Amino acid sequence: MLSISAEEFLIWKKKQLSRGGDQQSFAVLLDCVGGVSKSDINLITINPHGILHLKKKLEFLESVWDDHLLKSCPIQYLCGITFWRELKLKVTNKVLIPRPETELILDIVFNIFRRKSEKLFFAELGTGSGAISIALALAYPLSNGVATDIDQDALEIAIENFTNSSKQSNLKFYCGNWWSPLGNFKGKIDLAISNPPYIPKDTYEKLPKEVKNFEPKVALLGGEDGLKHIREIIQKAPLFLKEKGWLILENHFDQGEKVKKLLIKNKFTSIEIVKDLSGIGRFTIGRYK
Ligand SMILES: C[S@@+](CC[C@H](N)C(=O)[O-])C[C@H]1O[C@@H](n2cnc3c(N)ncnc32)[C@H](O)[C@@H]1O
Repeated sequence: MLSISAEEFLIWKKKQLSRGGDQQSFAVLLDCVGGVSKSDINLITINPHGILHLKKKLEFLESVWDDHLLKSCPIQYLCGITFWRELKLKVTNKVLIPRPETELILDIVFNIFRRKSEKLFFAELGTGSGAISIALALAYPLSNGVATDIDQDALEIAIENFTNSSKQSNLKFYCGNWWSPLGNFKGKIDLAISNPPYIPKDTYEKLPKEVKNFEPKVALLGGEDGLKHIREIIQKAPLFLKEKGWLILENHFDQGEKVKKLLIKNKFTSIEIVKDLSGIGRFTIGRYK
């Protein structure tokens, strides 16, 4: 640990932020690499006369911040860590950085299944870092879940994140295309969730460089119209869901009505488009019959 005067640190912090970037990214850098939490910062802001302990030198933190600003590399990849709901997750460029708006998926589930003692069997398709299914496995400890991904490297990270987040063993991981690794669970799933790649091809080409140059294409691109994967997931869902089982999908900002039509066509009921905190119809949910 290195010691530095709080005053010196605060001046340095102000200088770094004046060069660009946002507070939230800087907070991730300080916490994950510097070992300085948000509450440490709050304390020294109130009392700047104390001493602060750092895990790394300011020069090193500055060099990581430089990489972030100059190359547009997401700070989460540079630090190897992201925060999502109550989880601290490892991330590499093999997995999408789980987004704050996706956190709402858990609230949708909590609204449907209100008892934490629920014994559900849930599936997450396209788990990436594992964020959604790990949060579910922790929130419903008597439930069991399965999480799939097409990318074995992503699954390895999800498995590591689950091991680091919990001593539970109620989540298993499978590699393969959407439902295909789940052949043993036909008709057994109470709840299936997916945040699949849903960006239309044209939009993908125009994504900001911090996304397009660093995040995995396989996690973002949803074919010509963005709905390629959503279509496949919905069409096969009836084989795997129990009667009255739920399907919860995240979609692009303007896809809600189209996803709703697909669900109706495939005999889903209780269909609803759920808005995110910006008022965007970000999730489409339904029950199989
Ligand atoms: C938008 S990311 C979501 C990751 C994570 N669930 C989240 O919300 O942060 C989509 C994930 O689907 C996976 N994926 C893409 N195509 C797939 C396929 N055909 N079958 C299974 N998973 C797939 C990607 O590897 C990626 O991890």
